[in-house]
Amino acid sequence: MRILAIETSCDETAAAVVEDGINILGNAVASSTAMHEKYGGIVPEVAAREQLKCILPVINEALNEARANYQSIDKLAVTTGPGLIGSLLIGVETAKTLALTLNKPIIPVNHVLAHMYANFVRNKEPVEFPAISLVVSGGHTELYLMKSIKELTWLGGTLDDAAGEAFDKTARLLGFGSLGGLAIQEAAQKYQKTKNNNQIELPRPMLHDKTLNFSFSGLKTAVLREVNKLKETKQLNEVMIQQLSFEVQEAITDVLVAKTINAAEKSNATSILISGGVAANLSLRDKFMKHNSSFTFYAPSVSLCTDNAVYIASYAFFRGNAVDWHSVDAVPDLSVEVLS
Ligand code: KG4
Ligand code: ZN
Repeated sequence: MRILAIETSCDETAAAVVEDGINILGNAVASSTAMHEKYGGIVPEVAAREQLKCILPVINEALNEARANYQSIDKLAVTTGPGLIGSLLIGVETAKTLALTLNKPIIPVNHVLAHMYANFVRNKEPVEFPAISLVVSGGHTELYLMKSIKELTWLGGTLDDAAGEAFDKTARLLGFGSLGGLAIQEAAQKYQKTKNNNQIELPRPMLHDKTLNFSFSGLKTAVLREVNKLKETKQLNEVMIQQLSFEVQEAITDVLVAKTINAAEKSNATSILISGGVAANLSLRDKFMKHNSSFTFYAPSVSLCTDNAVYIASYAFFRGNAVDWHSVDAVPDLSVEVLS
């Protein structure tokens, strides 16, 4: 089955053609990130206007790459939430129009739940269940138990900022503008840890807490305090920024790994899956891979972690239900707490 999926929940405009939830036939993503750089972050109105301009060219690019056309597609899938209302509407209205005019079934998709299905794309070894799935994106940090590819139960999430948000806010404090987690990762890679250098220790929020919830808002306050101290003593140089970046990355990834392993132990899981933009972080992936535990670890390729439409199609194939196009609506605050 060939699904044409559309994703416009944030500033990306993405379309993909995926066969049977696993084979990528076409994948196109346009981002207006560079444009938001001058405003220091995403401006929803600017994002939506850009998406309106590029939605059809992006769909055409995905179809061309797949050597497909609208007629050769079996079903449509579209992100309906959570996300920015103006952005979601571009994708939803386009998909509904295609469903009506082509007379094809349409599957509404929850963006956050869909992230985890990037783990099933191009995966040669089938995932063994039960699995614990950590979704870490710009707006979400959620843990789920997956009893099967369809059965999800929400176990916990962030009480305040998401892990990606913590990366983004601290990146701004460290002078990386809106370049976010990737800039922190790159600066952290340059940091040379030696015995003599003055280690900055940042807190590991809720590391020893018994719940499966997270809290990252205190981290940015701690970084702000360190930055101000360094500025006062005129020590905020490149080396210190690299050290702070390294510590931010350590603090966030330590908590993510510990909580996920804890969830896996509590649920007697066999596997651990990670997904979402922060799952692209090489230190996070490395910590899971090297962790001394018996769980099989899965992570999507780095390019499938950040927003794209491939995993939207994969989710639609494995867990989605086609509905009447009239009932498909953009829902900016769509709940991600699945309680099965
Ligand atoms: O999933 P995503 O592309 O969009 C949302 O659904 O939010 O995630 C974006 C988030 C941003 O916070 C970005 O800073 C973070 O993923 N991110 C990273 C890395 N690449 C993207 N965080 C840490 N390390 C990275 N390499
Ligand atoms: Zn996302």
